[in-house]
Amino acid sequence: MMAADQTVHGVPPSLSAKVVGSFAYLTVRDRLPTILTKVIDTIHRNKNKFFEEYGEEGIQAEKQTIGLLSKMRNELQTDKPVIPLTDSLQDAECWNQYLQKHQKLHGDQESVSWFKSPWLYVECYMYRRIHEALWLNPPISDYDVFNEGKTQSFFESQQAVMSICTHLEGVNSNIENLSKNQLFEHFNKLLQVSLWGNKCDLSISAGQDNSQKTSPIDSLVSLQPLILVNDSNTVWSTLISAQTHARSEKTTVRVDIVLDNAGFELVTDLVLADFLVSSGLAHEVHFHGKSIPWFVSDVTAHDFQWTIQQTMAANHKCMSKIGYQWKSHLKDGVWSYHDHPFWTQPNEFCDMAADAPDLYANLKGADLVLFKGDLNYRKLVGDRDWDHTVGFGTALQGFGPAPLCSLRTLKANVQVGLQPGQAEKLTSHEPDWMTCSKYAVIQFYSSKAEQKD
Ligand code: F6P
Ligand code: MG
Repeated sequence: MMAADQTVHGVPPSLSAKVVGSFAYLTVRDRLPTILTKVIDTIHRNKNKFFEEYGEEGIQAEKQTIGLLSKMRNELQTDKPVIPLTDSLQDAECWNQYLQKHQKLHGDQESVSWFKSPWLYVECYMYRRIHEALWLNPPISDYDVFNEGKTQSFFESQQAVMSICTHLEGVNSNIENLSKNQLFEHFNKLLQVSLWGNKCDLSISAGQDNSQKTSPIDSLVSLQPLILVNDSNTVWSTLISAQTHARSEKTTVRVDIVLDNAGFELVTDLVLADFLVSSGLAHEVHFHGKSIPWFVSDVTAHDFQWTIQQTMAANHKCMSKIGYQWKSHLKDGVWSYHDHPFWTQPNEFCDMAADAPDLYANLKGADLVLFKGDLNYRKLVGDRDWDHTVGFGTALQGFGPAPLCSLRTLKANVQVGLQPGQAEKLTSHEPDWMTCSKYAVIQFYSSKAEQKD
């Protein structure tokens, strides 16, 4: 049920910072402390704001939060044991049980610690501890320490946002007259825009500006060779057969998008979702976001609503028109936003059926689930040291509530489903091809057994 540290039943070991020099090691050694330092600075910079809002209590909370975060940074840098959570939030017990199970797997000899445990676990744990530090310190418990960066990245991508909205408006204005082939072409373009939108996350750049400055549509042709696995034809045919089935059964087609980052990437996801609905390829889109601030730039309910508000309020005709359309999709229930604590737990997705059966059952209702981004990919394949030629289906280890597709730019050293020799060729030209976010995959999987409820 849980990520083991060793090879079990042919499943390779989890990536871990214990491999000195690995990307996991460098992340835990360098990038995570940098992110933590930025978090501390942001809280400190907002001291006056906390004072204005809450008086002396706000200042006290700021001090105590910084104290807890500095303590955690020290634990991380000195490879101290991972400690249980002490807040009383709904998911705290699950986290503590997860720790206990890991401790059992480690045995009595060695503690679960920052450098010796699975990278996926400790990286997720860091973000949950940031949340804990704030939560334990009312009145600033609800403060989203990543909000400034997310907002800034949205505004810095304005040109690109306007250009993609103008493009969408052009497509929508003529959508009824498009042939199936033309629809397919537009689908492909917008799927790829959403894919490359994933370059713009703030976690890989440790919070540095990483926004989209140029028109995304214009770059697609030159980016095409960088898509290492491209299953977009199968994604398309899955939607078409869902549409045919829905027509004959008088039901609806539902696409779920498991979101990743706010800012430009979220806009590209909304644009894709808009196209799916206006083309009739889908009748419902369910978005899944995070219930707490996560991995610097991930979308929360607030970011989702805020982005739609900003799009509506833009001083740009197409953008604002589209923003209003999005608002009415939400109002009419054509679009809906969901969150679930499982998305901010450290589990591999193959644990979902056992550990979050309600979420798993919910996803089963989709005709297609799109998983955005690198972290979702890591969780899909368990963040393990897979051979690159292992099939995506094998690496999913039984996870498959519905036909699914990962849209991911590569930022972590795990990649499956490649052709023999493909990885070796990439490595010989570009040793960091798995972590430089230059390459991407549109990787599809469907188990014949899955059945829509
Ligand atoms: O390794 C790079 C990293 O920070 C990972 O921790 C994480 O998987 C990823 O970037 C976040 O990227 P994304 O926003 O695409 O999930
Ligand atoms: Mg992210």
